[in-house]
Amino acid sequence: MPQITINGKVCEFKSGQVILQVANENGIAIPQYCYHDALSIVASCRICLGEVWMPNPRNNNAVEPWMGGKLVPTCQTAAQDGMVVYTDSPKAVQNQKAVMEYLLINHPLDCPVCDQSGECFLQDYSYQYGRGVSRFEETKVKNPKKDVGPHVYLYADRCIMCTRCVRFTREVSGTAELMVQGRGNKEEIDVFPGVPLDNELSVNVVDLCPVGALLEKDFLFAQRVWFLKETPSIDGITASGDNIMIHHNEGRVYRVKPRTNMAVNKWWISDEVRYGWKHVHDERRLRTPLRRQFGVQVESDWARALHDAVEGLRRSIGAGSAGGGDGARNGAAPKGGKRLAVMVSPMLSCEEAFALGQAAQAIDPGAALALGPVPVHGQDRTYPPNSENGYTVYAEKCPNRRGVQRVLRALAEKSRGSVLSFEELVSQLRSGKIGGVILTGNYPSDWVTDELVQALEGVYVVLIDTLDNRLVKRADIVLPGATWVEKAGTFQNAKDMLQAFEQAIPVIEGAKQEGQIALELAAAAQRGMQAEISPGSPGGVGDGSEGGPESLDIGGREDVDLRTYPGADPSRAMARIFNAAAMRQTMSEFAPAALGVFVTDVSMPVMPMEQEPDMAVVEL
Ligand code: SF4
Ligand code: FES
Repeated sequence: MPQITINGKVCEFKSGQVILQVANENGIAIPQYCYHDALSIVASCRICLGEVWMPNPRNNNAVEPWMGGKLVPTCQTAAQDGMVVYTDSPKAVQNQKAVMEYLLINHPLDCPVCDQSGECFLQDYSYQYGRGVSRFEETKVKNPKKDVGPHVYLYADRCIMCTRCVRFTREVSGTAELMVQGRGNKEEIDVFPGVPLDNELSVNVVDLCPVGALLEKDFLFAQRVWFLKETPSIDGITASGDNIMIHHNEGRVYRVKPRTNMAVNKWWISDEVRYGWKHVHDERRLRTPLRRQFGVQVESDWARALHDAVEGLRRSIGAGSAGGGDGARNGAAPKGGKRLAVMVSPMLSCEEAFALGQAAQAIDPGAALALGPVPVHGQDRTYPPNSENGYTVYAEKCPNRRGVQRVLRALAEKSRGSVLSFEELVSQLRSGKIGGVILTGNYPSDWVTDELVQALEGVYVVLIDTLDNRLVKRADIVLPGATWVEKAGTFQNAKDMLQAFEQAIPVIEGAKQEGQIALELAAAAQRGMQAEISPGSPGGVGDGSEGGPESLDIGGREDVDLRTYPGADPSRAMARIFNAAAMRQTMSEFAPAALGVFVTDVSMPVMPMEQEPDMAVVEL
């Protein structure tokens, strides 16, 4: 492989790479403003200039200054075998200082009130490559602040005219709303008259802007960036599987940024994905379990609500204490002749789908497993338009339809059943075959259809959801769930990639993760059956003592250790804590052929780099 030496480090490179790309790949710091891997090269900012030497074949390959010793833009100059480059030589450093001084001539230096402060290239480079003083004594040119689009402000006097934003709208979004107008120190970025920056990817220009000239309206003055913590995550509202970074502080999400993954979203996210977290802090979030008492819905503690949910579901299928539980235990239809159903939302993770399916099967081993409604809006769109390998905005507005189907199929195969679609579930509800149902929502907007509400006539309903909706009033038990930023798990995206994500913020007070709810429902079901088998024995209803059988065979499985659930006291059912990684292990052991991929093929999020301390601690 050909080799190049940059600042004393010998690097291999591929044909066609420019010097700056080789340096970036090899961790050699060269300042750069206008260059971006995704955009065409314009070499306009001039800060990356380096001194280049080349072997001269006419002089015994002696290494001599190239291009007459002029500095060349490393972002535009192709690497060549034997090339020797210096961006730390006195000549190159002098250029860096000159460029910094020039860029700061008209810059307002308003870092204390600038949103970009703390993540600004101009700020960082002025420390690393700047002069520290300015010789400019004249009045600075003041350019206006502009509202250029629904999500973006332009603070034109901070702009360094790198034109990354302009190139993005031409080369990626294909919408070309931005342009450069004027000349010299009057040159500025603007939109064409009457054409705002309003495309599906518009806020990516804010990420591209190396300074604080383009700003997100939504984040403006919301938080200083050095207070924000970063958690790697995955798009939780569409099928894209876009890799994102959630920026949060003190339990509150402040913004979402793209996380580069060349196999998925490259450098970008759509505005829809960027603002897809808004429902997390919505006032309509459910925060208290509800149960029905003498026909009236009342607030409840978790233990009572879980206990009532299981009792109600068992009674609804004739498997409760009134109807006897033999049928439910051996897999045949319970004596009541009705079945339980669980509808797992495609907004939930694979691990939660598994836990919910198992919880339903703990109550009724022949429970029908159904997929929740899959929202689809319009058609997939790719950027740049008509490109084969571009960024895609998916029409499917849920993150894990494929993953939930995969898990439910594996569960259904074990019980020799099949997975129902939402429409099939509604038709089964209508037919009267289903006595009780566990419904999960977790959609960012209203998902309840008239058909579903009508079909639930006479059915016992346990609703696990995050936002208030008309089913909340209808349900017999309501259990508040958690949004994807409040939990960890795995989604399978539209390209069938399994990607894990981390929990960014704690679950809001009063709610629980769906996986945890499922485990507690399963535990409550186990206790109910245990009490039914031996009402007077240790561990029976009302006994509350340690002891009883160590595990109970449910549908051929021994998966809950009853020693952790002594007695029927629901408040003591909290022993198992839902853990996504442990659940993936359980899933792969449960069905190695179908679910083994959850141990072998899940791509884990790349953790954020450790930040260097910017100050040394001084011992006093
Ligand atoms: S607004 Fe930002 S991205 Fe656009 S040219 Fe100016 S500095 Fe570059
Ligand atoms: S990064 Fe090379 S000229 Fe701007």
